[in-house]
Amino acid sequence: MTPEFPQVRPRRLRRTAALRRLVRETWLAPSQLVLPLFVRSGRGLRQPVESMPGVSQTSVDEMLRDAEAAAELGIGGVLLFGIPDRKDEVGSGAWDPRGPVQEAVRELKRAVPELVVITDVCMCEYTDHGHCGVLEGADVDNDATLALLARAAVSHAEAGADIVAPSDMMDGRVGAIRRALDEAHHAETVILSYAVKYASAFYGPFREAAESAPRSGDRRGYQMDPPNADEAVREAMLDIAEGADAIMVKPAGPYLDIVTRVKADTGYPLAAYQVSGEYAMIRAAAERGWIDGDRAMMESLIGIRRAGADIIVTYFATEAAKRLRAERP
Ligand code: PBG
Repeated sequence: MTPEFPQVRPRRLRRTAALRRLVRETWLAPSQLVLPLFVRSGRGLRQPVESMPGVSQTSVDEMLRDAEAAAELGIGGVLLFGIPDRKDEVGSGAWDPRGPVQEAVRELKRAVPELVVITDVCMCEYTDHGHCGVLEGADVDNDATLALLARAAVSHAEAGADIVAPSDMMDGRVGAIRRALDEAHHAETVILSYAVKYASAFYGPFREAAESAPRSGDRRGYQMDPPNADEAVREAMLDIAEGADAIMVKPAGPYLDIVTRVKADTGYPLAAYQVSGEYAMIRAAAERGWIDGDRAMMESLIGIRRAGADIIVTYFATEAAKRLRAERP
């Protein structure tokens, strides 16, 4: 017989902070958080992103200060995005050994070697049309893009990146990048694949931050359709078969069911990306006094962990780590 009220009173275990802590099922640690950073050339530059309060584009020297502060708080890693001075049709800035991302990687590995450095591998910040690959008419040419992505990934590995993270959603790119890395003697470089990336409205503020909005059309021809879940599992399996070491689901909040399923079905290390729009929503509502921003931040992050993510990429990383440190008993 299952016990019932009044013998059973779930509230007993919620009475004090000590009891709640004792039976807590999910934990958040700074080491599970990854901070995205937007770097450009120059010195002493810090340009706030209007739609993402607290986030800035910075030059490499300023970026180092943010990364050092994050490392000091025990954050797991940083994810680098580059904003090049010049864009062209094929996005050749993506593999420039003197580009902002490559410079940033070298500086980070020199100044904070213990911090894991992840680079976003994509063409959209580097192409003048803003699409994630080379265009053939109005379409992105999948197969022609693979060699370019591989070249960008190798240049990141050459600079010293620990992890490359392809976010373009071209078919076959994980295999192409793995082969290129191995041929260039970077067999140790980890691939964290954005295996499951939806065509989402929540990327809006990022496109201001990374100056990467497509000039025409949208990304629905290569990013996933939001209603699909079985397809997410297929995408993850394909990338694993091609050599991905870890996989990512993106966005996070509106796709927690996907996080749970992909983790359960693959058993692979899983990252979830709390994207710019998720961040902006919490910030904007908090600015208006409509929600408690700090609590909403922590609740959104623990929700992503509870769903099954091992790693969370979030613009809140530094702030959340500060909170976690303050709460430490
Ligand atoms: C593409 C890329 C995007 C994000 C990360 N990598 C944007 C896109 O596909 O348009 C979005 C991240 C965010 O919204 O925070 N290189």
